[in-house]
Amino acid sequence: MCGIFGYVGNRKAGKILLEGLKRLEYRGYDSMGIAVIENDELRVIKDVGKIDEINKKLHLENVGGRIGISHTRWATHGGVTRINAHPHVSCDESIAVVHNGIIENYQQLKKELSEKGHAFKSQTDTEIIPHMLEEFYKKTKDPLKAVLETVKKLKGSFAFLVLFKDYPDRILVARYKSPLVIGVGDGEAFVASDVPAFLKYTNKVIFLDEMEVAVVKRDGVEVYDGISGKRKEKEVVEVDWNLEQAEKAGYPHFMIKEIMEQKESLLRVLGQDENIMKAVEMLKHANKIFVVAAGTSYHAGLVARYWFVKLAGVDLNVIVASEFPHFKNLVDKNSVVIAISQSGETADVLEAVRESKKRDAKVIAVVNVMGSTLMRLADLSLLINAGPEICVVATKSYTSQLSLLGLLAHAFVGKLEEGKEKLKEMQKKVKEFLENENNLKLAEDLAENLKDKQHIFLIGRELSYVTALEGALKIKEVSYIHAEGFAGGELKHGTLALIEDGIPCIAISPLDKTRDEILSNAMEIKARGGKIIGISEENNEVFDEFIKVPKLNGNVFHPIMMIIPIQLVSYYLAVKRGYDPDKPRNLAKSVTVK
Ligand code: G6P
Repeated sequence: MCGIFGYVGNRKAGKILLEGLKRLEYRGYDSMGIAVIENDELRVIKDVGKIDEINKKLHLENVGGRIGISHTRWATHGGVTRINAHPHVSCDESIAVVHNGIIENYQQLKKELSEKGHAFKSQTDTEIIPHMLEEFYKKTKDPLKAVLETVKKLKGSFAFLVLFKDYPDRILVARYKSPLVIGVGDGEAFVASDVPAFLKYTNKVIFLDEMEVAVVKRDGVEVYDGISGKRKEKEVVEVDWNLEQAEKAGYPHFMIKEIMEQKESLLRVLGQDENIMKAVEMLKHANKIFVVAAGTSYHAGLVARYWFVKLAGVDLNVIVASEFPHFKNLVDKNSVVIAISQSGETADVLEAVRESKKRDAKVIAVVNVMGSTLMRLADLSLLINAGPEICVVATKSYTSQLSLLGLLAHAFVGKLEEGKEKLKEMQKKVKEFLENENNLKLAEDLAENLKDKQHIFLIGRELSYVTALEGALKIKEVSYIHAEGFAGGELKHGTLALIEDGIPCIAISPLDKTRDEILSNAMEIKARGGKIIGISEENNEVFDEFIKVPKLNGNVFHPIMMIIPIQLVSYYLAVKRGYDPDKPRNLAKSVTVK
């Protein structure tokens, strides 16, 4: 996760770039750099360390010029060194590039460019970009054409900004699978990894789509299709945020922001059919399939197990990562291990992966954070592309993991397209649910009623059993209320003894074949004084309270929809009990120790 920021206008570039980078520092902070054009010279300054430290040393805010690009790095290809820090430049030092993403075919391209005489200084994948631009610029004498030719050659993901010394009035930018937005100011323009980075100056934004290239000048922005090279009309959107709100995009906490983001984030798993099919091939050749994960990611693995059994009649051996050592002798060269992790840095998951690799098993990573250790260790990575998840409690990463794993299960039985359709349908339902303010109000009212309870139970069957487990985890993590999830039929084997007057029990009840049985289980609880909160498409007399979700028409992706009301209730429980939902006590976003 790197951050990039560019500026063209009348202000002093150094100060603006520094400010922008500081807002993006959450995306990476092992090294940084800037490039400006000052007095017709391209000037590059970069170093290792945090932005403030480097600024103290190098006084970046005093750097002149009226145009510049900058980068805060979170190392992926190549160690944390000054040389590997961005910007990277062409051989003749007339082209400078900052890049976020990973160029997957960089080794091949580096070889080709080296053969043409280009000399590389760094170990990064990025450095091929300025060299390739140099090559095309020599031929075309046109910076836009050079960028358009270059993006055609790149595989992987990129958001990059380019300064051409010969064109001190423009920043060339390109985007594919990594975030990049353009801020349109009055006589000035900004380009950044996210909107808050430039919101102090403008709220007029052009959102670049995949494979778009743009020429950004102080008096206008031209956008081109990266494949056809044709000019495109793009809307300038006025973002209705003020600077303060934008830090959390207008929400009081990242948790609610990230819950709401699920309206869009789910579909960002699309666009990686090739890798999904590669994963399917690996799984088809496996004698045994293991899934390792921790916390919420483990629950995603459990849902995947139900899907594989349901759709393909194939079992997945889903193991909590910290328990994997006790199962490791089952893993051999014919095994495939699916490691699910938002951060890609959870120590127990990495340990399980390393152990599996020692045994010559193949590893597929299902991961959010690009460039994470897990991604580097795995034979194949499937990205959930949920975007940065800042709240410690996982919400949108869970539903994106489910989206991806659901597609994988469908692809496994040759039904990837059908899977995509079902996912798109589910995303519409999620959007419909979250856009209805009554639903938020209902979750809030429910939290008000639950906030002084000591225990909350959750029941579900089949896929909804896992929703009950994940729902209980959400409630515990943020509200510190004891919550437990059960398979509907299991509560009566012991825990029913705890049910007394007024004990709340959330019954997750989609309209599928589990419906009647789960309603019976709810009856058993109600008969002992329990209060039943139904989450369903349809009300029932057993429910004392009811959150209605949109009609799901038997769509197997329903665990995505059904968890969302519980995420909301958990959030409001934390707020009403006076806790910070973003940073629950004792918990960390990524647990890098065993
Ligand atoms: C921590 C986080 C959880 C997360 C778990 C696994 O415990 O607090 O929210 O589910 O780690 O993290 P991972 O990054 O591997 O998905």
